[in-house]
Amino acid sequence: MTAPLPPQSVIAVIGTGAMGAGIAQVAAVAGHTVQLMDNRPGAAEEAIRAIRAQITKLADKGKLKPERAAQANANLVAVQQLSELAGASLVIEAIVESLQAKQGLYAELEGIVGDDCIFGTNTSSISVTAIGAALKRPQRLAGLHFFNPAPVMALVEIVSGLATDPAVAATLFATATAWGKTAVHAKSTPGFIVNRVARPYYGEALRLLTEGAADCATIDAIMREAGGFRMGPFELMDMIGHDVNYAVTCSVWNAFYNDPRFMPSLVQKELLDAGFLGKKSGRGFFDYREGASKPTPQTEATREVPTGITLCGESPAAQALAERLTQAAIPFDNTLSVDGRIAQVKGAVLFVTDGRSATQRASDNGFANTVLVDLALDYRAATRLAVATAAQCADEAADAAIALLQATGVQVSRFADIPGLAVMRTVAMLANEAADAVNQGVCSAQAADAAMRLGVNYPLGPLAWADSIGLPAIRTVLANLGTSYGEDRYRISPLIQRHVFSKRPLHG
Ligand code: NAI
Repeated sequence: MTAPLPPQSVIAVIGTGAMGAGIAQVAAVAGHTVQLMDNRPGAAEEAIRAIRAQITKLADKGKLKPERAAQANANLVAVQQLSELAGASLVIEAIVESLQAKQGLYAELEGIVGDDCIFGTNTSSISVTAIGAALKRPQRLAGLHFFNPAPVMALVEIVSGLATDPAVAATLFATATAWGKTAVHAKSTPGFIVNRVARPYYGEALRLLTEGAADCATIDAIMREAGGFRMGPFELMDMIGHDVNYAVTCSVWNAFYNDPRFMPSLVQKELLDAGFLGKKSGRGFFDYREGASKPTPQTEATREVPTGITLCGESPAAQALAERLTQAAIPFDNTLSVDGRIAQVKGAVLFVTDGRSATQRASDNGFANTVLVDLALDYRAATRLAVATAAQCADEAADAAIALLQATGVQVSRFADIPGLAVMRTVAMLANEAADAVNQGVCSAQAADAAMRLGVNYPLGPLAWADSIGLPAIRTVLANLGTSYGEDRYRISPLIQRHVFSKRPLHG
């Protein structure tokens, strides 16, 4: 086991904006002397005042022992010159996101610090390999990628460039762990882990919107209430800011030579062109100006509880419907399911989506009254489900299917008949991206899942989620999306293909 940097080693943080200040707080609370430097006069002192206020607040709330808080506050030192950092064991930069600025800073530092001083860059999008290319000793540089706000977010990506010494990455991993973070190793590829694997969360939602599947508020509600995500994709993009979110998408897309998996959206570009940057500008997908009202998700009117319900098979969805109907004291019959259906009522046949449109599925299976239900993280706990009905489906059958779901206590949002609905399509694509990152040696399966749970608060790691749904089902969804759209965007990761055949879980 590699040892972390000992608490008596000095940490330098250069660039004391949002990220640098947060990182300095983490290191100071961990017991290090932290030297803060910024090229804007007074910025380091300002950051120290803000950090001390934060630390004192934590102590007042009982989240930090008073002695530890006092020590952390005393650990923060503002410096004016790079030459004052000669004794640092680790220099973390969180300056402007510019290759030239980062290369220039570290090249200058090389003449000041000792040979064994480690450089950790907090860049979120620049190649660590490229930053290292300007150094005499590029082996000492690795990415040390914190998430915002650094004191709160548990994840740190330790990013190795081509020249990074594995011992340096191991020391940073151990140090981040000693600071109370969950560290994951990643190779320096575009977006590292989180900013790459998260792209489908935005990308698929933007596609759904473009195709008129539902409005933003409804898609958000489904992703929260059925998918278990903390925020819907549209409110999240509004919070991040469309300038930032669009720039990250473009940078990953460009870096992967315009791979259609990462293609930016014209809908988001329109917002950008209009200056609707999200919450910070008062308008994005939603309107945040004074007096504006928050749109409510489309919700089907409550129907009368239907009679003649039959639940089919023992899939998680069918079992959860059975439990919920039993709880509500609503009678139903049980039967086997030979074709994957989960329920039938008044001529309607309900299936969980497999990536085909309801219309195609109705045509394929010969049941005109086909109704598709979206994936839920946990069908027992979901408070809302999305459905789509085949074009051939009779109104009474659609009504009965919706009434059945409502009888289980969920709200129902009716989507246009797009392939894969919202949660299923998004989760399949997140798992596909995570699998591809693993397949390309960017990170381990465990790292990919931990990164997504801790870096962006997903309720489950995408690979563990895919395992729990069943890899053959995920492969089928992706294959059907691929056939429906005829786009390379939905090509299936070779890792998923292999694991379907080997019957081994991805998250192993
Ligand atoms: P920020 O704009 O809040 O802070 C940057 C600070 O660096 C400013 O105080 C600026 O005066 C200072 N600075 C700029 N050039 C400098 C130089 N050559 N020498 C010394 N100080 C300099 O930016 P933020 O958001 O803290 O980002 C910093 C870095 O962290 C960027 O590389 C960014 O991509 C990365 N990052 C940002 C995240 C975020 O959510 N904001 C998340 C993870 C990484």
